[in-house]
Amino acid sequence: MESLPPDALSHRWEAYRLGDLAGFQQASNEHASILRGTPSLPSMSRGTSILERFSLREIFPTDRLIEVDLGSGPGKFLVESALQFPDRNFLGIERLLGRVRKTCRAASEIGLPNLRVWRLELEYTVRYLLPENSVWRFHLNFPDPWPKRRHQRRRVVDSEFLDAINRSLINGGEFRIKTDHEAYFEQITKTVARSDLWNTIEWAEEGYPRTDFEEQFLRKNLPIYRLRLGKRTSDPQ
Ligand SMILES: C[S@@+](CC[C@H](N)C(=O)[O-])C[C@H]1O[C@@H](n2cnc3c(N)ncnc32)[C@H](O)[C@@H]1O
Repeated sequence: MESLPPDALSHRWEAYRLGDLAGFQQASNEHASILRGTPSLPSMSRGTSILERFSLREIFPTDRLIEVDLGSGPGKFLVESALQFPDRNFLGIERLLGRVRKTCRAASEIGLPNLRVWRLELEYTVRYLLPENSVWRFHLNFPDPWPKRRHQRRRVVDSEFLDAINRSLINGGEFRIKTDHEAYFEQITKTVARSDLWNTIEWAEEGYPRTDFEEQFLRKNLPIYRLRLGKRTSDPQ
């Protein structure tokens, strides 16, 4: 895998935040190789624009239900899920190159045709790159909590983000969130309560492998807060 300039993402993200589409386009084109598959699989380099939504059908060899892991970290959850559910496709979104590489290495050692990782900013990916009505399940496992008050605006979950997640879900789709941070969890549940786009579903059984961070928190006996949201479908008129 070729290496990326360390500032590749920050250029693009800064341009996006500033609304500088020309700058964003330029940085995107310079760093189009930011999109990656597992090394054993065909490259997903797009090489053109990432101002258009992707066709998920083009990046997975088979047409199956798609699950997206947002901030997939070192990849334990993603790799073990892809192994456990070979009849589903899994896409990880992670901005740290070392973590993307670790996931790709593990996936290629096992040989998982149903797993891809994109090294991208997750909020941008959800809002602008994933097609509408395309994803069966989103997972947000232990998002960065930004505990300091002056940093809290960096938290990824807000009403716009939830709306964008909802748009990308297919009917019957779900958004599953886990965090160790009680205050962030409360903020998320309050934001969800203000929206009429979601049903809260009981989350009785785990059903999925543990994540890297989850294992650390469990070893320390820390509580884990979970929220399982179903996309509410509008009643036919
Ligand atoms: C606390 S870790 C959790 C990792 C993994 N989900 C787990 O549970 O083990 C949060 C991860 O999200 C990634 N991340 C945070 N903000 C991100 C963003 N805006 N775009 C992409 N990745 C992000 C971080 O690099 C980190 O790997």
